Amino acid sequence: MPKTSPPRLFFRNAAQLLTLSGSRVPRRGAALGELGIIARGGVLTEGETILRVGSTRLLEREAVRLRAESIDCDGRVVMPGFVDSHTHLIYAGSRVNDYEMRLRGKTYEEIAQAGGGIQSSARKLARASLKPLVEQAAGFLEQFAAHGTTTLEVKSGYGLDIAQELKILRAIRKLQEQTSLDLIPTLMALHALPASFHGRSCQYVEEIITRLIPVAAGASVASGVVQGKRGYGRTQGHCHSEELAGDEESRLVLKTRRARSFAAAQDDRMGASFRSLISLVQAALGQGRGGTTPAATPEIQAGRERLAEFIDCFCDRGAFSVEDCRRVFEAGRKFGLTPRIHAEQLARTGAARLGIECGAATADHLDKISPADIRALAASEVVATLLPGANFHLGLKQYPPARKLIDAGAAVALATDFNPGTSPTLNMQFILSLACDQMRTTPAEAICASTLNAAHALRRADRIGSLEAGKQADLIALDVEDYREIPYYFAVNHCVMTVKRGRVVFSR
Ligand code: NIG
Ligand code: FE
Repeated sequence: MPKTSPPRLFFRNAAQLLTLSGSRVPRRGAALGELGIIARGGVLTEGETILRVGSTRLLEREAVRLRAESIDCDGRVVMPGFVDSHTHLIYAGSRVNDYEMRLRGKTYEEIAQAGGGIQSSARKLARASLKPLVEQAAGFLEQFAAHGTTTLEVKSGYGLDIAQELKILRAIRKLQEQTSLDLIPTLMALHALPASFHGRSCQYVEEIITRLIPVAAGASVASGVVQGKRGYGRTQGHCHSEELAGDEESRLVLKTRRARSFAAAQDDRMGASFRSLISLVQAALGQGRGGTTPAATPEIQAGRERLAEFIDCFCDRGAFSVEDCRRVFEAGRKFGLTPRIHAEQLARTGAARLGIECGAATADHLDKISPADIRALAASEVVATLLPGANFHLGLKQYPPARKLIDAGAAVALATDFNPGTSPTLNMQFILSLACDQMRTTPAEAICASTLNAAHALRRADRIGSLEAGKQADLIALDVEDYREIPYYFAVNHCVMTVKRGRVVFSR
């Protein structure tokens, strides 16, 4: 991206300037509908940052003094760029075959069980080199920018294999070097069980914990620290004991042990800065115990680069169990990866509760949550991220209970879930329409959920998500005079200008 400093800019005369200013925490309940509107508003930027926000009349003199370049936003709504906090941007090809099968009557789960779905995306991705993956995603990123998205989370997940997952994470890093948008990488550690691990999910989870998570987290693993490919060591014992734990009492013992080890993981994290990374890696992988043959794999050699910031699991019927996901989150935490969880999309499994227990940044989907789950989420810091694009594309009648979550006081965000299987849309404006028309949010709530609260969902609300002095100059202009027209005129791209870090990156 360009090294020269962006010009000073003065965006003047917005019909409505939606600032979303004034909140350091996610907006909940009635506050979710507060947009901080300034009529005939203006924004003055200096380099990548917002210098001043206010009425155009009051900013005019300073803009002249600073010789800022003036951009007239007359008759338009100006607001923070959309923050899309849930995408699966990197995949090969598409899933139009699945799409047609569904239209002919098969369900999403039936197609997945027959080897389509995520597995078919994984087969395509394994055949693709880095270059076409990056090229396809780069094309999508231009479209994200053209539709007003300025920051997006990007998950891996179509690898289902250590090397392929790392390929995806490297593709994300390569894209970040090319795009002006901010990409936040997430390791989607558990997405689907590869066919080669059929009936051995425990061993797959073990592979992910010992061989993928440390590398994705950028642990500089010295030769000999990581257990060899064939030896599962003490962890094999763990799988074994779990499988044998049939009676109530042993289940209770296991539960207590897990609760303790989760607490220990949290302590570890607190103390991490005082220890060398190597000793952290050794502790995490149980080096020295279990008597396995250590080996330096190619993935480990390629480590040292932090490739992910968050860790995600698909915790659902037909995907991974709460137990599997808990273990992966504990492991991720030890390496500083913050959990986010695909929860209660297909069935209620207790995934949202796991998200709360693990201090996840978000619990996403939530179609099947219970009233008690709603109360628990509302009482927690977890951002409830709703993805109505998936419901729309799957042709479902039932949508996530947005209204109940908002009214209960949960911190609600909206995202596209851009992916080839269930939600091939990158248009946040359409997500706003779905939120309003299908889930009965107000337009103001939907806007707040897709900017400020989404920034909280990515733990970046100190920099993005609202228009305030000192924050990043990420803003968009839409060709409407009233913000309510954004969802009202649905399936239209209203965005006419996208500004990222003080630079106009799209205009028409
Ligand atoms: O968020 N639920 C799991 N992951 C994606 C779908 C992935 C796919 O079908 O390719 C989702 O909906
Ligand atoms: Fe998803």
